Amino acid sequence: MIIFKTKNELQEYLHVQRSQNKKIGFVPTMGALHDGHISLIINAKKDEMLTVCSIFVNPAQFNDKDDFDKYPSTLGADIALLDMAGCAILYLPSVNEIYPNGVENAISYGFGKLETVLEGAKRLGHFNGVGKVVGILLETIMPDALYMGNKDYQQCLIVKDLCRQMNLSERIRFVFCPTSREADGLAMSSRNRRLTEPQRAIAGIIYQCLISIQSKYSSGGNFAIVQKECLDLLRAKGFEVDYISLSDANTLEELAQYDPNKKMIALIAAKIGNVRLIDNMMVNE
Ligand code: PAJ
Repeated sequence: MIIFKTKNELQEYLHVQRSQNKKIGFVPTMGALHDGHISLIINAKKDEMLTVCSIFVNPAQFNDKDDFDKYPSTLGADIALLDMAGCAILYLPSVNEIYPNGVENAISYGFGKLETVLEGAKRLGHFNGVGKVVGILLETIMPDALYMGNKDYQQCLIVKDLCRQMNLSERIRFVFCPTSREADGLAMSSRNRRLTEPQRAIAGIIYQCLISIQSKYSSGGNFAIVQKECLDLLRAKGFEVDYISLSDANTLEELAQYDPNKKMIALIAAKIGNVRLIDNMMVNE
């Protein structure tokens, strides 16, 4: 694997690869890699892409300075994992390389309602920061395909809209990949390593709640009832619940009740101790 720290060197290299008809598959990350991230690399490899992974902990998308300061950094292990997965290129830029004129002066995109609901409501400015960095990374790399995880479903919709605004929708193919989970269903996340043993032991309940929301739909149940059951269960186990939402999977407009005429997604965000976990599941395919 080749590591580039500057945009110029990376672009020169990609230019040569493109002239040899290589297709570029891009996987943006913030490091502290786990099997979920690696599944994106594997998907890109399966598509016979020359795989570029970026690791950049983006200060612009953290509304909580403490979360940014505490964001895990495991670069040595990350490089070993990427190498093993057959990733061709790692882009490891500095803050100055990404934001040479400062974060405030980077191009800022608006996402309307999509950035104000769910994660956008709880983490003000978060998606604006995601838009800034992904916009810069896409302009730098100009991939043929972009691999992102459905675990961050709202982020997938934001980035899709970003590409539309950048006139890149025709040029870049989106591959939204399934969520990799631990044996008990807990969605893999860099934050999981901050869970204490007892917290880890109950963290799989979020997945259980998503399963019940999905199965209550199949058995003709009522969403408001299952929502309350999940809320009570999570609270009883010590979670502080941000939302248990049923939403339109295309717009993320919140639904009060199951609606078979819509593609629906269930989304949960809850804190255990000081670790905030998010997860989601399609209710009807
Ligand atoms: P990060 O949290 O490092 O995630 C990088 C990518 O890995 C995202 O597309 C995310 O959805 C995916 N991912 C995380 N956990 C996953 C899991 N359990 N299964 C499958 N995919 C998973 O998301 C970001 O970084 C940043 O916001 C970024 C897009 C890099 C912009 O800074």
